[in-house]
Amino acid sequence: MRIDKFLGNLKYGSRSEVKRLIKNKHVMIDGLQVTRPEHTLDPLKETVTIDGLSVFYQDPVHIALYKPKGFLSAHHDPMHPVALSWIQEPYSRFDLSIAGRLDLDAEGLLILTTDGDLLHQITHPNHHLPKTYEVTLNKPLMHSESLLTGVTIHDGHGNPYLAKALSVEHQGIHVKIAIDEGKFHQVKRMFKAVGYEVENLKRISIGSLTLGDLQPGEYRLFRKEEL
Ligand code: URA
Repeated sequence: MRIDKFLGNLKYGSRSEVKRLIKNKHVMIDGLQVTRPEHTLDPLKETVTIDGLSVFYQDPVHIALYKPKGFLSAHHDPMHPVALSWIQEPYSRFDLSIAGRLDLDAEGLLILTTDGDLLHQITHPNHHLPKTYEVTLNKPLMHSESLLTGVTIHDGHGNPYLAKALSVEHQGIHVKIAIDEGKFHQVKRMFKAVGYEVENLKRISIGSLTLGDLQPGEYRLFRKEEL
């Protein structure tokens, strides 16, 4: 990869700012000064410094974030605080995609990744990756059979869809439900279809990856094999 592209991708400035940094001799690769923006490097093998400070690089980056309520599953938004604002340096420099959004008023496990294949694996409906949610309802759940056999909800385009839970455990207003699809507001819509309102929604796992001891706003790196 070209050094100007590498530094630009990591948000060290616009393409022209980065070129200037290089031409003005601020950048070294493995201790040797580079002055040509088109100089190529292998960022996994070579170490880049800017004014003597190393540039962190990792590929891929997978992050499990505990999204708190009130944060939009987005990078930027004019109205609401965003989930990505929790991510600090050096990971905030990476081009992270959100693999399966959570509603503004929902909390819990949000996966961020630089890996397009992983993103696809998590979000593509054909992959049927189970996701588990802890839900608080407006009144005690009486029976779960219809959630397991399937309830008709409408997807984001208004098309009817038979949504089935993989498992449902419940005690009073507290329910743990697993689904392996990810239609728009699916969990809320499934409960609405059987006469309940969701008052709190927390995603606690995606595949085998769990929220663990993460607290709201905290994150950790994970490996693909943990999913
Ligand atoms: N289902 C919902 O209704 N909301 C979410 O955020 C996730 C699943």
